[in-house]
Amino acid sequence: MNQDTFIRQLPKVELHMHIEGSLEPEMMFKLAKRNKIPLPFNTPEEVRTAYQFTNLQSFLDIYYQGANVLIDEQDFYDLTWEYLLHCQQDNVIHTEIFFDPQTHTERGISFDTVINGIHRALEDGKQKMGISSRVIMCFLRHLDEQSAFLTLEQAIKHKDKIIAVGLDSSEVGHPPEKFTQVFVKAIKEGFLTVAHAGEEGSVDNIYNSIDLLKVSRIDHGVRCSDDSRLVRLLAESRMPLTVCPLSNIKLKVFDEMKRHNVVDLLRQNLCVTINSDDPAYFGGYMTDNFLAVAQSHSLTEDELTQLTQNAIEASFVSESEKHRMQRVLEEFSSRSIG
Ligand code: HPA
Ligand code: ZN
Repeated sequence: MNQDTFIRQLPKVELHMHIEGSLEPEMMFKLAKRNKIPLPFNTPEEVRTAYQFTNLQSFLDIYYQGANVLIDEQDFYDLTWEYLLHCQQDNVIHTEIFFDPQTHTERGISFDTVINGIHRALEDGKQKMGISSRVIMCFLRHLDEQSAFLTLEQAIKHKDKIIAVGLDSSEVGHPPEKFTQVFVKAIKEGFLTVAHAGEEGSVDNIYNSIDLLKVSRIDHGVRCSDDSRLVRLLAESRMPLTVCPLSNIKLKVFDEMKRHNVVDLLRQNLCVTINSDDPAYFGGYMTDNFLAVAQSHSLTEDELTQLTQNAIEASFVSESEKHRMQRVLEEFSSRSIG
């Protein structure tokens, strides 16, 4: 089996994907038409041409604008379902997706509309495609902690559908310590925690997410390489990093894929995983991310398999569900030899 085929067929587990970031331009046009929302573009191609980012903020401005076409529960269902079709195509067997409730509640869309649409699609994904999933609710860190508290209140009655809370949006200027109290409350309510840290921001944000927000995983975390003591700590603790290679290139966290540190971190025994972040905006889903890394770094089949192994280890599912995924991976490994 050549390496491209190996990568395409490798069972994958995704742990860092914002559902609003899976809004493809075609879906944007379909929903804009259905909901009678004017778009500042004439064709999906024009939308794609506009996706030229210089940093995280230049992306976020366009990404929040795109989400304006999402109005009804069915819109959130359709968005999530389309993402699951990509998962099926890419042999993603389990996915843990983010959603940003405040992006929608701030425009008058109810929390229930959003979570119910996403949840119903994920249930269908489990039943019809055998793809298991979890949902993580992110607080927008450019908004204040009070707004995060109000969002957490709204999530309580949906606890059965939400495994964890996270932190996304503009990292620089909005450090993890701004949200310490709301994370304390979320943990008391039984949620696990994660946070975007060390994407554009400094290693302090990684340390503080671990120490103050008690995170189980760091989203991105690639700036850890600035601090060799932190790299050792992450390796020893097996603190997972949900790395998003194509995103990091599009948002200029690294100049080019050859300079990306994910393979280096893997070889230093960090629990790194590969993820798509906002696939409709950054040029690809899971397979595309694996292929892009493998094109610029030579990776063995064992190393590629280890990336899925790491994601299974880092996932928010029961031990028995992890074992089920490990069996799928082992079965693939034995098939791929010879
Ligand atoms: N970083 C911060 N916030 C985000 C991202 C990201 O990569 N994607 C969607 N929201
Ligand atoms: Zn992200």
